[in-house]
Amino acid sequence: TSPDANAAVLSTIRDVPGFPDPGITFKDITPLLADPVAFAAAVAAMAEPFAGRTDKVAGIEARGFLFGVSLAARLGLGFVPLRKAGKLPGRTLAESYALEYGEATLEVHQDAFQPTDRVLVVDDILATGGTAAAAVRLVRRTGASVAGFTALLALDLLPEWPGLADVTTHFVLPRS
Ligand code: PRP
Repeated sequence: TSPDANAAVLSTIRDVPGFPDPGITFKDITPLLADPVAFAAAVAAMAEPFAGRTDKVAGIEARGFLFGVSLAARLGLGFVPLRKAGKLPGRTLAESYALEYGEATLEVHQDAFQPTDRVLVVDDILATGGTAAAAVRLVRRTGASVAGFTALLALDLLPEWPGLADVTTHFVLPRS
């Protein structure tokens, strides 16, 4: 994808100061979802480095589903949802992670992957990296391997993400 396409993607992400709490600026992706040209460019750029190097796409609930399903369709691969606790009907594995206040849990169906699967984990935005790291641990516990993690952008909060040290990470946009 071209720098122009990435600039077009960036221009659709809306900063909302003071949401959800004072002092926090929320990155609103809804204008990107509403723009078919920019959204297609974003999905293409997220997928690009992993074409031919991955067997399944795993999306993180909820906003990772929007990008993950689109990416899976583009790559011609199956999609697996990594869901918040209590939503999946089959036998599951679970991984918890810290939030600013409290904890959250992601779950996956135990039989979602084959041991030979190279899995691309997808989300919209990475902040502390805690959610992505839990997703990576979860995929690995099923016996599959992780091809990488792809997202639109990483917030400029931390210099590195300890839980992703051995994971290929790809971001479409510069840190902001
Ligand atoms: C947001 C975002 C990532 C996560 C990033 O999801 O979509 O999944 O936070 O934060 P982290 O890197 O600090 O873990 P959120 O938990 O708000 O859920 P949602 O997608 O259901 O809105």
